[in-house]
Amino acid sequence: MFKIAVMVSGGGSNLQSIIDKSKNGELNCEIACVIGDRPCYGVERAAEHGIESCVIDRKVYKKELCKEIDKVLSTKGVELIVLAGFLSIIDEEFVNKWKGRIINIHPSLLPKFGGPGMYGIKVHEAVLAAGEKESGCTVHYVDTGVDSGEIILQVKVPVLEGDTPEVLQKRVLVEEHKLLPNSIAKIISERQ
Ligand code: GRF
Repeated sequence: MFKIAVMVSGGGSNLQSIIDKSKNGELNCEIACVIGDRPCYGVERAAEHGIESCVIDRKVYKKELCKEIDKVLSTKGVELIVLAGFLSIIDEEFVNKWKGRIINIHPSLLPKFGGPGMYGIKVHEAVLAAGEKESGCTVHYVDTGVDSGEIILQVKVPVLEGDTPEVLQKRVLVEEHKLLPNSIAKIISERQ
């Protein structure tokens, strides 16, 4: 079975979409572990589903965060690392070691509305402020830049009259929950 690790910092609804699709057989992978860089509901979700999980606290490990994460991942036979709402920046050493095996989901149509500081509700605020007619989400490989790696899959959603950042965020999130499992499935099928 193709082994993945999922890294989270927040609610973990994208993690939940992977859990659900691997449980119902739509996604043929095993979540070997879930790592949080802070205590969060994403880590609790993993525990609720009997998935091995741990918090490697960014406040404790600071510059050593990626080294500690690498230590855990290296013992698990992980083939793909999925950043699902993971807010710490992954350092260059880690990216180079796991090159081509780290993916991230971002709530915009990259390369638009990506880069440093573009996360969470700020992305949707920026999309509305720019008067965009469409937004969406992107799954991409992680390179040493921020939100700059090769795009794997992307899906569009309309921006509608009267949208608030929160309403747009919800519309995009619905699509994220399909796009992330689909992207993992695509990578699995390419590598088998
Ligand atoms: C998602 O919008 C994702 O695109 C972004 O962070 C959010 C995480 O949401 N990277 P959740 O923790 O999966 O609910």
